[in-house]
Amino acid sequence: MSIFDEIIDRRGTYCTQWDFVKDRFGVDDLLPFTISDSDFKAPEGTIKLLEEAVRRGLFGYTRWNHPDFKNSKIHWYNSRLSTSIESDWIVFSPSVMFSVAKCLDLLTNPDDGVLILTPAYDAFYHTIRSNQRRVVSSALVRDEKGHYHIDFDDFEQKLADKSTKLFLLCSPHNPTGRVWTHAELSQMVQLCKKYDKYIVSDEIHMDIIRNGLNHIPITNFVNSDWNKIILFTSASKTFNIPALVFSYGLIIDREIREQFLSVLKEKNGLSSCSYLGMLATMECYNHEDEWCNQLCAYIDNQMHFLSHELKTIEGIEFSIQESTYLAWIDVKALNLSMDTLQDLLVKKGKVAIMRGDTYGEEGSHFLRMNIGAPHKKVAEGIRRIKKALEFIV
Ligand SMILES: Cc1ncc(COP(=O)(O)O)c(C=O)c1O
Repeated sequence: MSIFDEIIDRRGTYCTQWDFVKDRFGVDDLLPFTISDSDFKAPEGTIKLLEEAVRRGLFGYTRWNHPDFKNSKIHWYNSRLSTSIESDWIVFSPSVMFSVAKCLDLLTNPDDGVLILTPAYDAFYHTIRSNQRRVVSSALVRDEKGHYHIDFDDFEQKLADKSTKLFLLCSPHNPTGRVWTHAELSQMVQLCKKYDKYIVSDEIHMDIIRNGLNHIPITNFVNSDWNKIILFTSASKTFNIPALVFSYGLIIDREIREQFLSVLKEKNGLSSCSYLGMLATMECYNHEDEWCNQLCAYIDNQMHFLSHELKTIEGIEFSIQESTYLAWIDVKALNLSMDTLQDLLVKKGKVAIMRGDTYGEEGSHFLRMNIGAPHKKVAEGIRRIKKALEFIV
């Protein structure tokens, strides 16, 4: 039995995924496979450290800018990603999307275009548009095996446009799960360099990668004559601690880094960080490498299980993705509208699974199922999908 098999009742914790499922799906009492947090407990070592901190009862203003914080990041990048990062690059931010929003503010102007690869994490669209910038979409191309590729001709054309000011990359990519190769990243960087556009890379899914694949941080492509590269990430997805509200970034260019910190501190009045979030992030990065390995192995198994089960359902296609616990499931051959399918899932199956068009029109015949959950829940979810589909008329 794995630690990840433990069923924990999350209801009654103000938990978005379980307690507020009605907000998105219209009814309560659905088994949720929705927003991307997991049903797993944080590592025991992290819980113990937080317990001790809570017992001390001291929750005053807290500073992130010290070697303990920075060394934990350097250690994680060294040990997990076999790469080195510089201590000076590291900045704190409360959340990845907050950081992205602040970068849009800092590096672009209203009406500027922001290039994204679509389908895309829904908050990308919202954050770009709510900041009065324009979404410039380069659609990923899906081959017959369900593998997604970048259409580099289209990408270059969109990037070359003068009004496109920034490329917002998601690496690895939510929702397709692509783990970009060295060649792909290198081409993206070369093109951004050629047209002198910033790359802001959201790498929040960097740790949950299928066995045998490697995530390459965008900062590996920094060189002395071009440094418009910014990376934001967090331990929150991997260790399931987003409620601790803590993330960080790597900003290579000193001037941009200082401006970013000033935007946080002066413009937005944010100078202290979440003490518990910082402690948890440091503990996870310093001591929970093995926990992370076990998590990845567990998710790998769940993906295989899901794939095996979905093969038995006519009209559904699924190929195991390269990363994340978010299964991207092709339901085109069911020949149902997304509304009809959702109606069946919710009313007949009592199961909540994200509709793919949440991530843009390219996702209109997909479901995104969050399987970051104990095996029993995933098995029950599949049972409910099958039950719902029995009602197709
Ligand atoms: C690609 C991506 N970026 C960012 C986030 C959210 O991160 P944060 O809560 O730190 O803004 C998510 C969560 O689903 C995500 O999938």
